[in-house]
Amino acid sequence: MASHKQKIIILDFGSQTTQLIARRIREQKVYSEIHPYSLDLETLKAMHPTGIILSGGPASVYDEDAPISDPGVFGMGVPVLGICYGAQLMTKQLGGRVERAEKREFGKAELSVDYTAGIFAGLETGEARHQVWMSHGDRIEEAAPGFIVTANSEHSPFAALRHEQKPFTAVQFHPEVAHTLIGVDILRNFIFGICECTPDWTMHSFIDATIDDIRNKVGDRKVICALSGGVDSSVTAALVHRAIGEQLTCIFVNNGLMRSGETKSVLRFFEEKTKLNVIDVDAEDYFLKELKEVVDPEEKRKRIGFGFIKIFEEEANKLGEVSFLAQGTLYPDVIESVTFRGKAPIKSHHNVGCLPEIMKLELIEPLRELFKDEVRLLGLELGLPEEAIHRQPFPGPGLGIRIMGEVTAERLHILRQADVIVLEEIKRAEWYHKVWQSFAVLLPIQTVGVMGDSRTYENVVALRCVDSRDAMTADWSKLPYELLGAISNRIINEVRGVNRVVYDVSSKPPSTIEWE
Ligand code: XMP
Repeated sequence: MASHKQKIIILDFGSQTTQLIARRIREQKVYSEIHPYSLDLETLKAMHPTGIILSGGPASVYDEDAPISDPGVFGMGVPVLGICYGAQLMTKQLGGRVERAEKREFGKAELSVDYTAGIFAGLETGEARHQVWMSHGDRIEEAAPGFIVTANSEHSPFAALRHEQKPFTAVQFHPEVAHTLIGVDILRNFIFGICECTPDWTMHSFIDATIDDIRNKVGDRKVICALSGGVDSSVTAALVHRAIGEQLTCIFVNNGLMRSGETKSVLRFFEEKTKLNVIDVDAEDYFLKELKEVVDPEEKRKRIGFGFIKIFEEEANKLGEVSFLAQGTLYPDVIESVTFRGKAPIKSHHNVGCLPEIMKLELIEPLRELFKDEVRLLGLELGLPEEAIHRQPFPGPGLGIRIMGEVTAERLHILRQADVIVLEEIKRAEWYHKVWQSFAVLLPIQTVGVMGDSRTYENVVALRCVDSRDAMTADWSKLPYELLGAISNRIINEVRGVNRVVYDVSSKPPSTIEWE
């Protein structure tokens, strides 16, 4: 939504590493955005890109349904860099030849460079070999008219090409991945050398531009925001508040399914350090009633979700005329929700997804251009406390989906105590930031134990700790035995009603991170 003077537009052909291209460029303080390859030419032109990158992708340019971008891209007078599939498409569209290679080339390759300008400016040529990462089935067999080869590898005689008169470059390898040791140099040469960008996209400039945008859009109308205590909604609230101050009201719905104390610390920050209006609604009883006797996980999620919307709406209606809802949608959600070649979006659990339609509100999504780590930087820049910024993810339905079976006040009390112990011990052992998530789950079974001289028949708590980059896949964390022992001992000794602790050693897929 913010307008950036200079930007590199990436057309996505479905590579796993497309997001990395955008990140690498943003790390150089140049703004970059990903769009589907099918973006129409007029829209692309209206974006005034400073440079265009055609990403890699799993298809072959000869597939019947091969993703093809508008060849008009090459008539815009803008520099274009084709990567892997993008390089092959560029070659084909401009009149060269691409063939299926006898052997798929995958992994590290040695690149010899024989051109010292363009994307290779400053790199060694001649005998020097540069490690690059290849991953392709097809390969370029004949350069398009006007192109000359600038680098080759053992299996790719056309590993890099450049047009002699026009600012078009093609690389068969992936400069965006870390295994391509000269990758950052190549991208820098493209954005600074060829596209002549200035490195001025910083969090600071982002904040200024976004604040202007929000002010222009909102005028003197009112905005509401659902504060959850998580990073995204906190940063959204802080940013929108900076833009329009009193016109923003945040609503925090306490559904009684929060972790002990954790969430409230964010509210305390806003209360003490800012003049943000926060309506704190205590709806614990309402949710407990809604969840009475419900054991089906989907039913629980539904009731928690609908309950939230109902209460949020009731509170919002008390505020009079409100025009906008500020939401912490992030860039990966935006990209994910773009249906790509018929593949459905991956995530299905969005907590407040249908709020804007129900309430007929316009959306303000100031983070929709940012990656999670950029949101964290932004949060720090806005003065949010470190511990709020680097908090582990916590699901919208909260502890409700960590209690197997019926959610009752008593079972919530047990889980909350166990969960506090897990977090305390994980933090004490300095594992909190090493893992993606670490939490306790309360099982719906009782097992036999012995305490003193008597037999017990009590609850089981499962400990779930996972390593992950993005929650799409995850592996169970290899916590030290001493730490597992300390957590188990404390839970069994301190939490009344629990006599057994087990550790979950399943990865995602086929399991999921949460148990419900
Ligand atoms: P799963 O269990 O699907 O979880 O492997 C992946 C990540 O998403 C979080 N999660 C949710 N987050 N609302 C959320 O905001 C939800 O309904 C929800 N369900 C799961 C989970 O904690 C993990 O980080």
